[in-house]
Amino acid sequence: AVDIQSLYSRHGLLAFDPGFRSTAACKSAITFVDGDKGILLYRGYPIEELAEHSDFIEVAYLLMNGELPTVMQRTQLDLALGSHNLLHEQVLSFYRGFRRDAHPMAVMVGVVGALSAFYHDVMNIRDANDRQLAATRLIAKMPMLAAASYTYSIGRPMRYPNNKLDYASNFLQMMFGSPVAEYVVDPVLARALDVIFTLHADHEQNASTSTVRLAASSGANPFACIAAGIASLWGPAHGGANEAVLKMLMEIGSVENIPKAIARAKDKDDSFRLMGFGHRIYKNFDPRSRVIQAQAKKVLTHLGKDDPLLEIAMRLEEIALKDEYFIGRKLYPNVDFYSGILLRAMGFPMNMFTAVFAVARTAGWVSHWLELQGESHGIDRPRQLYVGKALRHYSKAK
Ligand code: ACO
Repeated sequence: AVDIQSLYSRHGLLAFDPGFRSTAACKSAITFVDGDKGILLYRGYPIEELAEHSDFIEVAYLLMNGELPTVMQRTQLDLALGSHNLLHEQVLSFYRGFRRDAHPMAVMVGVVGALSAFYHDVMNIRDANDRQLAATRLIAKMPMLAAASYTYSIGRPMRYPNNKLDYASNFLQMMFGSPVAEYVVDPVLARALDVIFTLHADHEQNASTSTVRLAASSGANPFACIAAGIASLWGPAHGGANEAVLKMLMEIGSVENIPKAIARAKDKDDSFRLMGFGHRIYKNFDPRSRVIQAQAKKVLTHLGKDDPLLEIAMRLEEIALKDEYFIGRKLYPNVDFYSGILLRAMGFPMNMFTAVFAVARTAGWVSHWLELQGESHGIDRPRQLYVGKALRHYSKAK
């Protein structure tokens, strides 16, 4: 007889850790998170300092290379991004194969994966410069890939990047530019989008980054790995949470209804939760939520918009943070609590929120992909606890 249980004892210690709550799957020098203190560092630099003083492309260089770029290195990266930000015309015709009403993330998973069919040189990259080139290509192309998935869904012609514009401004003009008129970039919106990109660029071993690393451990090409990351990000428990926050705030509808919502969130017989509150790692303020809240206020003031959802969100936060239920469980606003309000104020439709996140997170994904190339621990291969049938023998159905 086969004794399945003895298999595990013969293999020595086997940790059973569903959800990987207590498993460090790799070593990484990219991002540090201290959830108890609410600290997030990229390569040692606090996220608040980078969001205030740096910009997304500098941050992408930092994540990929470990140090901030010199002026010359920055210029070289800008030039490289400018020469790789177009999509092959055949990639554009690819879009037309999708249903018009396809979700932008569904299109992105497909098209980013398909890029490997256009760059055969990435199938077996041995040279470090070629790896950098593949990473640069991905960062460069992502804004057009995302914007095209949106313009296709609303039946508008795709726009090409304009190399006179910076990364965030280019994304805005490709998203919102009319085919018949010049698009004038609003610097306040461009800056806010750049901050969103910086804040979302990396967050150590989250589900999508772990997915990228797992795919990369088999030697899969970078386009395939990032497509896997995009697929993982799409889930509502990961990249889709800011959409859920907006829906919740709309449902609450007015400040008077907040106490009712708080009471529901505390009621264990009710499945309602305060979306945008709590985090698997942060048991304190998510440092990104403060920065996003400030940007949301700034953009709304600049646009002269008065979004009642911002008032509801701020009042909800104030009340929740004084409530014993939330204090005792260390539930604080996370990055998603204000990001939906900000993106909506900027004109992004809800189905593009996760695509914006994907553009930003590409910097982190390619940095982890690059980091992994220097390691030699072999293919990632988790084990399992088998709970199925014991050995039995085949007999034909009678
Ligand atoms: N509202 C009400 N109660 C909550 C909330 C919430 N948002 N979050 C956690 N709790 C309660 C739980 O009911 C539980 O209470 P109990 O101890 O009485 O049973 C306690 O707090 C601990 O909750 P867990 O689910 O075990 O906490 P965990 O750290 O595993 O979950 C999570 C984190 C999934 C983010 C959770 O806080 C949540 O569902 N938040 C709302 C969704 C959300 O905002 N997700 C985005 C996260 S950020 C990101 O992924 C980019």
